[in-house]
Parts: sequence; C-alpha cells; structure tokens
Amino acid sequence: MAEAMKGLKRTHRCAEVTKNEIGSEVTLMGWVQKSRNKGGIIFVDLRDRSGIMQIIFEESDIKAEGFAKAEKLRSEFVIAVVGRVEARSGAVNENLATGEIEIRATELRILSEAQTPPFPIEEDSKTKEDIRLKYRYLDLRRPDIQRNLMLRSKVATSVRNFLSEEGFMEVETPMLIKSTPEGARDYLVPSRVHPGNFYALPQSPQLFKQLLMCSGYDRYFQIAKCFRDEDLRADRQPEFTQIDMELSFVDIDDVIDVNERLLKKIFKDAIGIDVQLPIQRMTWQEAMDRFGSDKPDTRFGMELKDISDLVSGCGFGVFTGALENGGSVRGINANGQGDMPRKKIDALVNFAKDFGAKGLAYLAINEDGTYKSSFAKFMTEEELAAIVERMEGKPGDLLFFAADKNSVVWDVLGNLRLEIARNLELLDKDKFNFLWVTEFPLLEWSEEQNRYVAMHHPFTMPMEEDLEKLETAPGEVRAKAYDIVLNGTEIGGGSVRIFQSDIQSKMFEILGFTPEEAEERFGFLLNAFKYGVPPHAGLAYGFDRLIMLMAKVDSIREVIAFPKVKDASCLMTNAPDVVDEKQLEELEIAIAGKKNEDGEE
Ligand code: AMO
Ligand code: AMP
Repeated sequence: MAEAMKGLKRTHRCAEVTKNEIGSEVTLMGWVQKSRNKGGIIFVDLRDRSGIMQIIFEESDIKAEGFAKAEKLRSEFVIAVVGRVEARSGAVNENLATGEIEIRATELRILSEAQTPPFPIEEDSKTKEDIRLKYRYLDLRRPDIQRNLMLRSKVATSVRNFLSEEGFMEVETPMLIKSTPEGARDYLVPSRVHPGNFYALPQSPQLFKQLLMCSGYDRYFQIAKCFRDEDLRADRQPEFTQIDMELSFVDIDDVIDVNERLLKKIFKDAIGIDVQLPIQRMTWQEAMDRFGSDKPDTRFGMELKDISDLVSGCGFGVFTGALENGGSVRGINANGQGDMPRKKIDALVNFAKDFGAKGLAYLAINEDGTYKSSFAKFMTEEELAAIVERMEGKPGDLLFFAADKNSVVWDVLGNLRLEIARNLELLDKDKFNFLWVTEFPLLEWSEEQNRYVAMHHPFTMPMEEDLEKLETAPGEVRAKAYDIVLNGTEIGGGSVRIFQSDIQSKMFEILGFTPEEAEERFGFLLNAFKYGVPPHAGLAYGFDRLIMLMAKVDSIREVIAFPKVKDASCLMTNAPDVVDEKQLEELEIAIAGKKNEDGEE
C-alpha cells in the first residue's frame, strides 16, 4: 500500500481544470461518479470536492492493460488518472463547470475499490434522512452537503480575518467547567478523581469571556462549541457552535457597529450578498405588537393590529371576556384570501390551538362587501365596519382574530402569520432581512418556578432609565440586551453586562438566590469584579443557524458534519451508549434501577 502514490502527484482538483489547460497533461484523483462502457471507449465521471470531470479511456491512448483496468471501474472506486486535457469530443455539457473539456487518460491507477453504496451519491438526495445520517460518511460525499461545509469553512475564515483586523484575539475557554444551571439543562461529566463530583460542558463561554475582560484582554472572540440539553428542533442541536465575542469599554452602539460590519463582510465574502447598513432596529415591544414575535420575519407584511378598543363594549363574550381578564384582542389580515375554503380555515384554527389559542375568530370580506364570519352575528354593523377599517380590510380579504392574554395572542398570531406565509410561499430564501431587536424585558415570570428568571442571563445590565423599577416593578425593567434576527431566525444575541456589584447583588436577589447561593455558584466572577472590572458587553452568533440561512437550507443538520437527531443520538456511531461496568466502577457510579445478574434491583 505504501506504493499507492508512488510516482503520482495530483496537479488539480477535478473542476479546477479549465479550457486554458487544453493540450497539457494533468493528474486527477477522486471517486468514480459513474462509468459507461460504450465498447472500445469508456466514459468515467470523476468526482472530488470541487466537482466532476469527464475522463475518456480508449485503448489507443492507454494500452490494453490500462483499458482492462478501466473496464473494472464501478461507482465510488477511488482512482488516479493521468491524461491530456482536450476540448469535448461530444456535446458540451452546460450543466457542468467542466462541460467543455474532458481528459483523455494515458494512465489509470485504482487506489481502492468500493462496494455499492446503500444510496446514490447525488445532489438533492431523495434518501430518507435517517439512512443518510447512519451512513453520514457517504452522505458527506454529496455535492450539496460538501458545498454547505465549504461555505461554513469560508465563513469561519472570513470571521477570523475580520475580527483579527478589528483587534479581537482568539482565546480558548474550557470545556470541562463548573455547573451553573440557568437557562438550559447542563450536560454533566463525572469526575474519576473526585468521585461523586461532576463537571458540566459549557452552554456558552459566557462567564469565562467576562473574566477575560476583567483580565484586560479587551476584545476577545472564539468559535466555540456549546452544549445544551434541551428539546431539539430544526434549528437546535445539543452541541452547536457559537461565534462568541466580548468587548471592553463599550456600549450597545459599539457592539452593533462592529457586528454590522462583520455581517456585511461575511455575506459579501461568502455568498456575494450586499447587506445594507445600518440594519433596522426595533424594540422588543414594537416587535411583539407588530409581529407577535421577538424574532420577526420582515420579508412579508401581514402585521398584527390591536382591536381591543373597538370591541370592549361588543356583544361577543369571547372578546370582552379576554379584555376583562387583562388581555387583548388582535388580528391579522390575510390579504386576498377571502375565498379560503372552510377546510383550510379549520386547519388554521387547529394550528392556532397548538399555540394555546382557545379558538380563532375569522371574518372574510366578500366581493359584494358582505361578511362570512364566525362572530359577526354578535356585532353591530358599526363595530364590524370599525374593525374592518382598522384591519385595512378590502373585499376579498380574510381576517383572523385571537382574544386572550397578551402573551398567548402574540404567540398565536405570530405563528399563524408565519404559517399562512409558508402556505402561500411568501418566504423567499434569496431575500436576507436583518433586524436588531432591542430593549428586551430583563426578567420573565416563570409560573413553573414561581419566580422571575433572567430573559437573557443574570449578568445582563438593566437599562439605566429603568433601574429604579428594579425595586418596585421588576417585570417592567428593560434590559440592555439585543438580538440579531435574520428572516425570522434569531441568529445571535448579547447584552451589556452588569459590572457594578450592587446591581449584580440586586439582580441575584430578584432571581431568588440568597447571597450564599450566589457566592457558591458565581463567586469567582463576583470576586473577579472586586479587583477592577471594565464596563463590557458582547454577543454570540449561532454559527450553525447563520450558515443554514446562508446555504438556504431548512435544518442546521445540513450544515453540521456529524449532527445528532431529535432524540440527541448519533445514528452513525450510536452515541450515547452503555459503557463498561469497569468504567462505571472507576467513577463510583451505579445506575439506579439497573438489575443485577440475578434479576434483582
Ligand atoms: P444565547 O443563549 O442567545 O446567548 O445563544 C447565542 C446564539 O446561539 C444560538 N443557539 C443555538 N444554536 C443551535 N442549537 C442550539 N441549541 C442553540 N442555542 C442557542 C442562537 C443564539 O442566538 N452567552 C450568550 C451570548 C452573549 O450574551 O454574549 C449566549 O449564549 O442563534
Ligand atoms: P364559540 O362562541 O365558543 O363557539 O366561539 C365563536 C367563535 O369564536 C369561534 O369561531 C371560535 O373559534 C372563536 N373563538 C373562541 N375562543 C376564541 C379566542 N380566545 N380568540 C379568538 N376567537 C375565539
């Protein structure tokens, strides 16, 4: 096997050979995409990560022995070919970058043979995802996945170049850390040296990057692996990558400025898209009121309108009931959908119920100006006219209304708006709509825990103008936090941090930590702050989500080399898996409820 490469040196990748090389000799290596024997002449499509090149084998060029080898070629054999570049003898293939040329082989070496793969190695695979993931090493040969990973690498390089030029330095932070649960669930790693003790895998480098600011590194970045044990979705993985950064001596606008220029640079470098700066900004309140979401998709309209004031005295108990309970009544206008069949409307009502709606009221405006509606019978003509006017309803439009607590109304209509847009194919993947969402609430009331929890994390600075309300109305305090949203996906988020110990103590108190608990969990950070801490702020992008949108695919699994599936397992390696009894003994870990050999617990 040591001889496999003897005397051979690859000169080009397959698709890097151009018309300019016609007449010269090249050496290519790769995988046989397909081979067709036309009797006396064999055509082989040779593939590597750059693309495909057509190779022609004829006895007059390669001699009987070489031709005999070429006759054996089958899909996915790995070969080396030496040959002459020529203009295509047959029809030009306009679908191929190399469609105008071909290689006349003078030498062939079979580097390895291949079994027939369980699915074809081709673009736009129809193969079920679980099969693709079981054989991910084959799936990764497919050109679309290869393009995604090349894009990912290109963006990472562009990020590193830009941030280095801007004076950021890359520092690695540990993967085995102390568990500080807040936010998602931690992945735990048992310690052998300290039986009964556990490390956690980091949910983000948050505390360490703040410590680096305390240590004077002033502009840090890292392309960092993060781990969160949470329910998975198309845009969530248990381990994922952040482009993480932190800056000292800055306020919100400084962070936004450098990040806008970063986004402009990477979109231009990687996919040739011009991002218009400045990126639009919207407060959290405006985002919720207009889009029912803190990550609005602004590629289409269908904005929410509040009709509470118009229906406060109406005869429809569903509406007045919601208002009496402190809620609101809001609607969206599905323009031109007035003739939506009843079945489709019912499907949307059921969709709304999945988001907690008790029901969904609708009103279709017929072409003759009359209404078809689930609630018009409870309303006066004047009330209906006022609602239609507020909703900017025209003949042929379909209006939907939800009445409930604000949080439910927003969630229902925000999601309904997206569902209708999906059904009408309004979501154009070639459009890139960026948006900063600012002034998030600092705290969120958790019914489950019966206390406030931090909306971003406990180190986020309240807005100075709201500081007084920390005592009187914590729920109303806004934070110096910002998210960057692209086409309705939160691709990044960050905040200005608390660096004053009195505010931090107050924050822990509101979050229900005793001073002892705060000390036990975050003591190292609080202590670090005692020795001179600069004001600092930062942000982290979900790198996988960013690449998913740049690559115009629907799942982050398409841009991660070895992703996990919904139940957080890896179908290829079968992780997570049981381990040897001996490994557990060393860790002094016993599995609860596990039966011994006699079948006893
Ligand atoms: P946050 O928790 O908002 O902030 O995370 C930053 C970004 O990471 C992405 N993200 C994920 N991507 C894939 N799978 C997941 N499970 C997942 N969870 C989050 C999102 C998100 O916007 N330390 C702070 C940042 C800071 O304050 O500087 C943090 O981690 O795109
Ligand atoms: P009902 O009187 O319960 O039959 O409801 C009449 C109409 O109001 C139906 O179309 C329901 O789907 C709708 N509806 C019920 N609850 C709500 C709600 N919370 N918000 C909006 N519409 C609702």
